[in-house]
Parts: sequence; structure tokens; C-alpha cells
Amino acid sequence: MSASVFDAFTLPSGHTLKNRLVKAAMEENMAAPGQLPGDDLFNLYDQWAAGETGLLITGNVMVDRLAMTGPGGVALERDTPLAPFKEWVAVAHGKGASIWMQINHPGRQVFRRMGGRNLAPSAVGLDLGKHSSLFDVPKAMSEEEIEDVIQRFADTAVQAQNAGFDGVEIHAAHGYLLAQFLSPLSNKRSDRWGDSLENRARLLREVVIRIRAAVRPGFAVAVKLNSADFQRGGFELSDAREVLASLEGLGVDLVELSGGSYESPAMQGRTADGRTLAREAYFLEFAQALTDASTIPLMVTGGVRRLSVAQEVLNSGVALVGMATALAQTPDLPRQWSTDAEASGEILQVRWKDKTLSGLANMAMVRRQLRRMGDGLPPARRLSAILSVVLDQYRLAKLTRSYRKALGLDQ
Ligand SMILES: Cc1cc2nc3c(=O)[nH]c(=O)nc-3n(C[C@H](O)[C@H](O)[C@H](O)COP(=O)(O)O)c2cc1C
Repeated sequence: MSASVFDAFTLPSGHTLKNRLVKAAMEENMAAPGQLPGDDLFNLYDQWAAGETGLLITGNVMVDRLAMTGPGGVALERDTPLAPFKEWVAVAHGKGASIWMQINHPGRQVFRRMGGRNLAPSAVGLDLGKHSSLFDVPKAMSEEEIEDVIQRFADTAVQAQNAGFDGVEIHAAHGYLLAQFLSPLSNKRSDRWGDSLENRARLLREVVIRIRAAVRPGFAVAVKLNSADFQRGGFELSDAREVLASLEGLGVDLVELSGGSYESPAMQGRTADGRTLAREAYFLEFAQALTDASTIPLMVTGGVRRLSVAQEVLNSGVALVGMATALAQTPDLPRQWSTDAEASGEILQVRWKDKTLSGLANMAMVRRQLRRMGDGLPPARRLSAILSVVLDQYRLAKLTRSYRKALGLDQ
């Protein structure tokens, strides 16, 4: 018989999660000055922990404060003070939730207006059609820069451990640096970091190995991986299968399967190569094709809003169910499910003709809900999509100016 979403789950490294429901990473863009966690984030995570989700994975935390996915993001480096991170952990632990930090390097997915470092395996710019100029063409990384990034991931993981986090999740999906190395569309190198899949996966493996060697045995190490990039000529399901198999034996506790990138936002249910995804649990079919690729437990994230779908995910041999936007709308959904199996995590969404714009609006609405929770309020039942975009853009512009000023990027 398969597990219930309310059953506990023990990870290979020994840590036990109280249930199978996970809050997937959502970049909150709510950092306090200095790219540190602060009261807004603590209030937000307090609502999630109270909602009975077993594991909270933070929004991506940057391993380099000069290479950020957004101006309100959190960064954790070797010399960053740990007190605010300890407070973040205490909020989750205080209400019985486990908490992992997602750690990330954006590579070429750094908005031009942000400035800072824009590094990638090769000097290949993002193709976003008429929106491509939002990003610069990145610099191809040198051996030294690659080594620096590996060490940064390990330093951030050790810092997360010292702050009391139960684990880290390495972000190797959604077109960020590690995914850029994995994809033949963005990795054109002919050295030991490119060409064959074995070489393209080397950076991810090295990051895992370096982190595992640096943290204590009971500390969880997970990877978020695309089941496919959903771009012609990109990283495919068969590649995901090989990468998954190659992580076997490296002490990985969990692989979270997602899909897509800025160029092909499959994680929002839309693809660039025209392939259709399931209306709910977008990547379940892909996960099912991967369950026998390795013994590492899997998690599927994307499109889950109903208990019956979450249960279907577990029934197909996947260990954990990830949810992001449903928990931005209904932070106590797991608690509601424990007494009402029909409670739904339906989300506010627009489907405009301009897909880029509607993606922007949907993200803006989610971020607005997160900010409301950061202010100690419940999420709103209704939101204007247009107003959300305007407020989001205004706020991001303001935060970008402060970020650039604080880091001296305007000189
Ligand atoms: C506002 C927002 C921010 C996100 N930030 C991250 C992130 O930092 N790291 C990550 O791996 N995924 C991020 N995601 C993607 C989610 O983790 C998830 O994969 C995706 O939203 C699909 O799941 P859902 O349908 O349950 O929302 C973000 C999604 C949203 C809506």
C-alpha cells in the first residue's frame, strides 16, 4: 500500500520529516537590508510552519551576493553573520516544521538592470524574443571561476548547517547556472565541463561531492533537477535519467523534479517546444519514467493543488509532494486537508494572450500574497492582476536601486 501524505518520511541521511508535503522554493524577494532574512520572512515562514507543511524549502539563497536572481533576495556567504538565519530556522522549528535552504547561482539569468556578475558556461545569451535585451550576454567561465563557484556552494551549505537548517537543496533546474552547464543549448564548451553529458553534469556532481564532504552526515543534501528543459535540442528526459543515476552513491537525500527555464517556463505549466503538460502535477509522467533510474527518493513539484492529486503523486512511487503557489494562496492547506479532503489550493491566475505578460502577472500576484503574509496578514481572496504587476515593477525598481547602491555597482 502506498504512503499517505500525512505519513512521516525518513531521508537516507536519517532526518525524519513529519509528513510528505513540502513547501517548494519560492524566491520571496523580501530580504532585509544586507540581503539578510528579517521580520517579513519570519512572519511568512511562521504562517507556513503553522499550516502543518512538513518541510519548508526556502526561496533560493544566493551563494554570491554579486550574482543575484532578484534585488530582494537573500545571500549567504562564508563571512555572512548567522544570527538572522538562526532566527529563520527557529520560526520553522518552533512549529514543528523542518527547514532546508535552497542554494543557487543564477549564472546568466541575472537581469541587466541588476548588474554584478553574469557568468555562464559559454557566452550564449538568453533567447526571450523581444524581451532578450533584459539580459546581457554572459561571460564564459574560466577554470578559476568554476572552482570559486563550487567552493561558494560548499561554504553556503556549511553556513546553513551552522545556522541550524536541516539541509540544503542545490538548485540545478530552471535554467540557472548548474542547469546551464547541463544543457547543450547553453553549454558549448569542449573542455572537461562540456560536450558529453558526463562532462556537462560534472559541475553539479562536484558541487554535491564538495558539500557532502563539508557537512555532517545527518545533514540533508538535495538537488532540484529538470525532468526536461522543454526546448528543442535542450536537456531531455533521457539526460535527466542519466544524471539521476550518476548522483547515486554521492549521499543525495532527495531529487526534486521540475522543468523549464526563463526561456521555457514549464514550471508555470507552459513550454517553449509545444509539448503539453498535465493540467495538474505537470511533471508526474516524467517522474514515473525516472523512478527506477536510481534509489534516491524523488519529489515532484508543479501544479499540485488538491489532496487527491498529491496522493496520486505518492501512489506512483514518488516520495514527497512539492507545492509552491498553492501554499502562497492557502498557507495552511495541509492543515485543512487533515480535516477536509476536498479543501482546494486553487490559485489566482490570469491567462492573457501575451504569455510573457501573463507569466509576469501570475508571479506578481504570488509575490503580493507573500508580502501580505510578511506583514502578518492572511493572503487576499482576490487581487487585481494589473495592479499587482505595477506594484511589483515599482518595488523591484526601488529594490534594484538600493541593491546597486549598497554593493557599489553604480560607480
Ligand atoms: C514567486 C515564485 C518564486 C519562485 N522561486 C523559486 C525559487 O527560488 N527556486 C525554485 O526552485 N523554484 C522557484 N519557483 C518555482 C516553484 O518552486 C515551483 O517549481 C513552481 O512554482 C511550480 O509549482 P506550483 O505549481 O506548485 O507553484 C518559484 C515560483 C514562484 C511562483
